[in-house]
Amino acid sequence: MKFLGKPRSQRADFLPLCLLFLKLLHPGHSHLYSSRYAGDKVIRLIPNTEEEACALKKIYQQLKVDLWQPSSISQVSEGTVTDVHIPHNGSRALLAFLQETNIHYKILMEDLQKVLEKGSSLPTQRSRRSVSGYNYEVYHSLEEIQNWMHHLNKTHSGLIHMFSIGKSYEGRSLFVLKLGRRSRAYQRAVWIDCGIHAREWIGPAFCQWFVKEALLTYRSDPTMRKMLNHLYFYIMPVFNVDGYHFSWTNDRFWRKTRSRSSRFRCRGVDANRNWRVKWCDEGASMHPCDDTYCGPFPESEPEVKAVANFLRKHKKHIRAYLSFHAYAQMLLYPYSYKYATIPNFSCVESAAYKAVNALQSVYGIQYRYGPASSTLYVSSGSSMDWAYKNGIPYTFAFELRDTGHFGFLLPEMLIKPTCTETMLAVKNIAMHLLKKCP
Ligand SMILES: *[C@@H]1O[C@H](CO)[C@@H](O)[C@H](O)[C@H]1NC(C)=O
Ligand SMILES: *[C@@H]1O[C@H](CO)[C@@H](O)[C@H](O)[C@H]1NC(C)=O
Ligand SMILES: *[C@@H]1O[C@H](CO)[C@@H](O)[C@H](O)[C@H]1NC(C)=O
Ligand SMILES: [Zn+2]
Repeated sequence: MKFLGKPRSQRADFLPLCLLFLKLLHPGHSHLYSSRYAGDKVIRLIPNTEEEACALKKIYQQLKVDLWQPSSISQVSEGTVTDVHIPHNGSRALLAFLQETNIHYKILMEDLQKVLEKGSSLPTQRSRRSVSGYNYEVYHSLEEIQNWMHHLNKTHSGLIHMFSIGKSYEGRSLFVLKLGRRSRAYQRAVWIDCGIHAREWIGPAFCQWFVKEALLTYRSDPTMRKMLNHLYFYIMPVFNVDGYHFSWTNDRFWRKTRSRSSRFRCRGVDANRNWRVKWCDEGASMHPCDDTYCGPFPESEPEVKAVANFLRKHKKHIRAYLSFHAYAQMLLYPYSYKYATIPNFSCVESAAYKAVNALQSVYGIQYRYGPASSTLYVSSGSSMDWAYKNGIPYTFAFELRDTGHFGFLLPEMLIKPTCTETMLAVKNIAMHLLKKCP
């Protein structure tokens, strides 16, 4: 049980010592990512008219902003909240433009580098493990997550089986954990993936948290026991392994995969626009330099192809597909690519409604829920729509905390509350599967 930690009371005793230790090691002048975000700002804008939206799109394009919300410039329209990360050398131009046009804005982050350094302990200078075991309240690098998986595979062979479903573009293994008791040959299953988008670090942290909770509470919690006795969980903690690694080593705000194209200098494809479902239509881009680039053809990305192959092969058993993203605080279901209601809408809707209520009951955090197209925005070629179209009846995408205060830089301090409340939502959905839909 080394990696699972000890009960809170025992851990708390070590805390003051731990903090002291970290303070001593922490020089206070870190240079994460070689300070490349120093002076960058994150600004929230809500265009009030179509003219303002048009003007914003133009300047975003000119200044090559990193759009945090929505994910592509084409989705900027009247009334949409847009959060932009503007590099330091472009912020003066953007602010001047905003003052000139009278578009309302709010600066969410004055200096992105400072926010980044405040929210995380230093990878090299903090204790990667809490005193009593594995630390689930920090973000872990890909290597750490894979070591953790290997370890669990060895120490919990009765409940966990780790396997690879293929290789990434850069040759990394695509590992999945199968969680559950091997009691029956045929059993229904739930697929969970995290980290399709590299910079959404809370996703992989949640996948790890889910596994930890399952192993820790399996004996004591009747709901968890029921879940694991009746369902298999396939958990892929890091879907986009290359991108995730890159977001640790080079660019904290990298979103896509890392594949190269022969004709363009820009790298990477949006792994959530690369699926064969209304591929490369609305809400996806054909341009390799865009963050929502759909790729040269569907399933061009080896990571997407590997997961699609796995889901195709096991679709008879898989009853639910859950994908974890950030940020927006939403629980989304199909369709993403069109405004239309799915058949058997009421079952999915009631599952979402109950999940969101359960989540809110913990810390009062409110989630919106509904079809992705009308709740978030229209996007084609997404994994959720693809899973749904391929016969998995319950497919959801979570957009975890927050709503923009920290955005992708959700501080490590918030991993625990975020994962705790999300656990409840996921358990609710799982239990919904085990009941007959009313
Ligand atoms: C800001 O700097 C980057 C790299 O140094 C450069 O590519 C870009 O064109 C600059 N942008 C502006 C608006 O000057
Ligand atoms: C997980 O453990 C099993 C043995 O229990 C082993 O056969 C398998 O290769 C391990 N998985 C990985 C990815 O190492
Ligand atoms: C809708 O529900 C019915 C009854 O539960 C089921 O037979 C049918 O396959 C479902 N359709 C879809 C598209 O999930
Ligand atoms: Zn995402």
